[in-house]
Amino acid sequence: MKVAVFSARPYDRRSLDEANQQRGSGPAFEFQYYDATLDVHTVTLAQDCDAVCVFVNDRLDAPVLQALHAMGVRAVLLRCAGFNNVDLASAEGLGFFVARVPAYSPEAVAEHTLALIMTLNRQTHRAYNRVREGNFMLEGLLGRTLHGKTAGIVGTGKIGLATARILHGMGCTVLGHDPYPSPDFVGLGQFVPLQELLARSDIVSLHCPLTADTRHLINDDSLTLMKHGAMLVNTSRGGLVDTDAVIRALKSRQLGHLAIDVYEQESALFFQDRSGQIIDDDVFQRLMTFPNVLVTGHQGFFTAEALQEIAETTLGNLAHFAAGTDCPNKVAKA
Ligand code: NAI
Repeated sequence: MKVAVFSARPYDRRSLDEANQQRGSGPAFEFQYYDATLDVHTVTLAQDCDAVCVFVNDRLDAPVLQALHAMGVRAVLLRCAGFNNVDLASAEGLGFFVARVPAYSPEAVAEHTLALIMTLNRQTHRAYNRVREGNFMLEGLLGRTLHGKTAGIVGTGKIGLATARILHGMGCTVLGHDPYPSPDFVGLGQFVPLQELLARSDIVSLHCPLTADTRHLINDDSLTLMKHGAMLVNTSRGGLVDTDAVIRALKSRQLGHLAIDVYEQESALFFQDRSGQIIDDDVFQRLMTFPNVLVTGHQGFFTAEALQEIAETTLGNLAHFAAGTDCPNKVAKA
């Protein structure tokens, strides 16, 4: 069984090859790796393959799915949890097997969330540069003791809960908001309406999925409701935040700090080396000018443990497809 792996970085190749070697019996899987992102221009790379294996910024819209189907591809294996980049109605109409990795080390993303909060609060990124230049002045590096502060978790699913556990352990008062409150949150914090969470929190951390309802959840109105000078953290999906509104709130000093691992227009930038090129995205570049903004390029998931889980689950999904057996990670149109 041949699989065309798109958006394949060296670490993807290593983890998939390792998981493939460690497989026991069953049909042989052959991976063809491509750096390219899957779209209408690159789809022909999947010629002669039975399946494609894709990541967050590969586009599986109707024309791509039709082209894949015409060349005999029958399965889409997502190396991620989200499937907002797949036209599920078209996939279902064409009879595609679509499967994802529903969970991989939620603690990995929660720990990265903490890394962003701690870095921004104590300015360790600036301290690192200063000390290397022989500048040991502290002016400008003043942080706040997080113990006793209030942290609001929007979305108390797997990652939100893992983040709440860490913040609770640090002595923060934890607030949560979720339309489907998890009983596991009891003992860690208190569920409150979103407006109250925004008004009371020194740190607001987003962990809900991107849907039509949550798009631009953080906008001019919600930013106004936030505590003056609070920190906003987004390690979930870029579309949850109206970036123009956030820039206005940073300029007015209403928003004190912004830490993001995701960005609404990230597909044109993230997972690529653009260091020698001119970046045309003026909104992103404006964000880069604020000393109180910290951006990482969608690396919350990026731990050895999570990569291994992703590879093993993806191969498991592929084995179900090959054997024609029931796959628990199959994605179906709602
Ligand atoms: P999950 O499905 O376990 O939890 C999501 C929670 O959000 C659920 O409890 C759901 O009820 C809640 N929710 C839905 N609508 C909401 C709303 N309007 N307001 C508040 N809560 C709402 O998902 P998980 O695994 O915790 O992942 C959360 C998000 O993290 C994913 O949607 C994904 O976008 C993002 N993610 C980011 C990664 C990164 O590398 N930065 C890696 C993996 C996931």
